[in-house]
Amino acid sequence: MTSGPAIRPRRLRTNAAMRRLTAESHVSASQLVLPAFVREGNLAPTPILSMPGVVHHSIDSLKRAAAGAAEAGVGGIMLFGIPETRDAIGSAASDPNGILNVATTAVAEEVGDALVVQTDLCLDEFTDHGHCGVLDPLGRVDNDATLVRYQEMAIAQAAAGAHMLGLSGMMDGQVAAVREALDGHGFLDTSILAYSAKYASSFYGPFREAVESQLEGDRRSYQLDPGNAREGVREALLDIAEGADVVMVKPAMSYLDVLAKVAEVSEVPVWAYQVSGEYAMIEAAAAHGWIDRRRAVEESVLSIRRAGADAILSYWAVELAGWWGAR
Ligand code: PBG
Repeated sequence: MTSGPAIRPRRLRTNAAMRRLTAESHVSASQLVLPAFVREGNLAPTPILSMPGVVHHSIDSLKRAAAGAAEAGVGGIMLFGIPETRDAIGSAASDPNGILNVATTAVAEEVGDALVVQTDLCLDEFTDHGHCGVLDPLGRVDNDATLVRYQEMAIAQAAAGAHMLGLSGMMDGQVAAVREALDGHGFLDTSILAYSAKYASSFYGPFREAVESQLEGDRRSYQLDPGNAREGVREALLDIAEGADVVMVKPAMSYLDVLAKVAEVSEVPVWAYQVSGEYAMIEAAAAHGWIDRRRAVEESVLSIRRAGADAILSYWAVELAGWWGAR
């Protein structure tokens, strides 16, 4: 004579040991990438108000942060540069003496093979109008003229010692154009991380403060509409066909369905970017005592992994590595 349910899934949740053994998703430090900002002229790190705990680095403090990330077992670092001067074509982006390229060499020399050194390949931090590309006479972002600038930027970044270039500009044909330029200059081993499904998102708000963006208007003529999932998959498949080594979905948490769909069809690793707004929301709520900070951070990253990300860019990468590194 039995009573109650015959099937009891709760048996696998009875104690911590059972829960640990039956856990389906883990994130290890090696699967995390730390995004970091370096600001031209900074002699010491300065705080970014919209991203508590994140700073504008000087070259020296960036080198120390990179060494610390490597020490913690983090997999990579993604570098963003904030130049002192900007112009219409983002000249500093392809200048070997530009802040991002100088910082890349400094970090690559500091960490050697201990971290995958990645660079943001996009013009928005370098243009005086704040768009990710150059403009045509009517003020529209000129796709094909921008590809030429991306090629020049790619050569400068590869020459500076970047191991992987993060193509975040959402121009059509950018992966093929950059691959061709890299191969033509002998950078056969420099890999391409394609921000394939990058949405026109409000969650980049704190980042735009962080890079002191001068953008007026929006990026909807090149970044994806938040309602479109099929188009995100299409962009990822195109980038794979053009030679992307890794494809990415961005932001992460509001786009977990897109991430899962891309992960299902991709032949190459699929990464996700937990962006500045995702970071700021959790930090702000936690600062008010409205959520448990550590549990919220862990849950957010675990959900991104569960949806199919092979690696995750997160501003919490080093802190997470400290919590999770031993697993
Ligand atoms: C473009 C770029 C952006 C981010 C990464 N690369 C901003 C944008 O497209 O407006 C956002 C990252 C974040 O919000 O954390 N260079």
